[in-house]
Amino acid sequence: MYRDIRAAAGRGRAAFDAVAAFLFDNTRRVPSEFAGLDRSTGGALGAALKREEFSAARGSICCLYPDQGPKRLYLLGLGPADGFDGSTLRVAAARLAAASHAAKLRNIRLELGSVTGRAVWADRRASALTVAALVGRAVGDGLSIGNFSFDTYKAKPSGSRGSRASGRTPTSLSVHVDQPLRGDLAFALRTGASVDVARELAATPPNVAGPSWIVSYCRKMARATGLRCSVIGAAKARTLGLRGLLAVGAAGSSPPALICLEHRPAKSKRGARPVMLVGKTITFDTGGYSLKPATSMDGMKYDKCGGTAVIGAMHAIARHRLPTPVVALLPVAENMVSHKGYRPGDILRMHNGVTVEVTNTDAEGRLVLADALSYGCARYRPRAIVDLATLTGGVVVALGSACAGAFCTDEDWWSHLARAADDAGERLWRLPLWDQHREMMKTHHADIVNSAGREAHPIQGAAFLSHFVDAKVPWAHLDIAGVSDLKKPDDLHGKGPTGFGVRLLVRAVESL
Ligand code: BES
Ligand code: MN
Ligand code: ZN
Repeated sequence: MYRDIRAAAGRGRAAFDAVAAFLFDNTRRVPSEFAGLDRSTGGALGAALKREEFSAARGSICCLYPDQGPKRLYLLGLGPADGFDGSTLRVAAARLAAASHAAKLRNIRLELGSVTGRAVWADRRASALTVAALVGRAVGDGLSIGNFSFDTYKAKPSGSRGSRASGRTPTSLSVHVDQPLRGDLAFALRTGASVDVARELAATPPNVAGPSWIVSYCRKMARATGLRCSVIGAAKARTLGLRGLLAVGAAGSSPPALICLEHRPAKSKRGARPVMLVGKTITFDTGGYSLKPATSMDGMKYDKCGGTAVIGAMHAIARHRLPTPVVALLPVAENMVSHKGYRPGDILRMHNGVTVEVTNTDAEGRLVLADALSYGCARYRPRAIVDLATLTGGVVVALGSACAGAFCTDEDWWSHLARAADDAGERLWRLPLWDQHREMMKTHHADIVNSAGREAHPIQGAAFLSHFVDAKVPWAHLDIAGVSDLKKPDDLHGKGPTGFGVRLLVRAVESL
């Protein structure tokens, strides 16, 4: 992977390692916007378009080596013009990033053709962004998504294998593009670096990234970006009554903690209430005494992905210097088995006084989130809340890996988040949360249980959490268990962590 991808000014054509043209399918003649490009390549573009075997199917990439002009001309397929949307651009740009790296390119120029002129995007709700901004951002998203690889523990980084291109692999790629796209391309690439932070953290193995490692990572990251970081350790958590967090983390290889990251922009009004982001950060989930079977335990290092998405989002929010105050809470713990572990049958008095009978120690995420939500509501008086959590296997069964399950108690907050998700190309699908569901969680010897049988697991999770959120504060819960890591590649990401949530949180805060 490139360490760095930058947006640069347009400047002519000939001097680049490659020019990349974005094309709709069934383009048989050179579109007028590409006439100059065709001429400068000695007609190479027109010749390719006429070939019967040529296709510009969505996600296709074809490299021409013209006799004149740029050394390489990539043709990136967008599929049919109707139904076109940002996700298609992300896929095309991701292919381009991978191809550029394999060919060891240092600079490329983008020719967007008619894409920037298109007023109709299939998935566009009333976005506040212009088409040019959506295009610039989608391309930046795709380039950085396609550039990701996790090589920290490899003897040889992946770029050094299988490439016939000679010479040293460059560490940075300049992407030249005309205005008005450049600013938004740069914005998306910058956000992309924070998505990489989230993906790298997520991939870091559980024997390294335990609770105390996450704590020191956050302290360092905060110092580097200008965020405030404070940590509620186990002793302080005891005096605050965060017994859900303490119970879940009791058997962990290092003690649980509640990490608080604060973005306090200099220009924001004094006393302005912050947006609160909360991320489930279980560094490994064995299930505890309600032990998971071996096949379900595989991949449970990704049970920290709510937290890693929030860390990535805070990294971006600080580096973009967004004008809105934001506070992030990361309850971090390892759900392990030992004589210190909590048991099914335990009754816990939580931070807000609600008592929970533990019916299943594998429903641990909601216990750590509950204390974080309740503490955060009391301490920070947030104007609105989003929590992200790999909370249930049930959401994977119900919705698969194309979208996260979403729950929201406030219609305005929901439309704000839905629009941010659209702009960011991260899909949410709303599920119900009614009083009936809240009732499901009630029990005999305590106020509520942490798991109430087999029905509607994702909704149970949300219903449980609702008992710990100040009812006056708009709140959304995103169950990201299906989207935060992929068992097999989709059209955009490889196998492994996706960083889902970083872009949507950044856009949600930016667009407030
Ligand atoms: N971390 C899991 C949820 C999960 C499952 C994430 C699969 C990613 C993939 C969570 O802590 C859990 O174990 N949930 C239980 C809840 C149940 C015991 C009520 C589940 O979904 O089975
Ligand atoms: Mn669990
Ligand atoms: Zn879990």
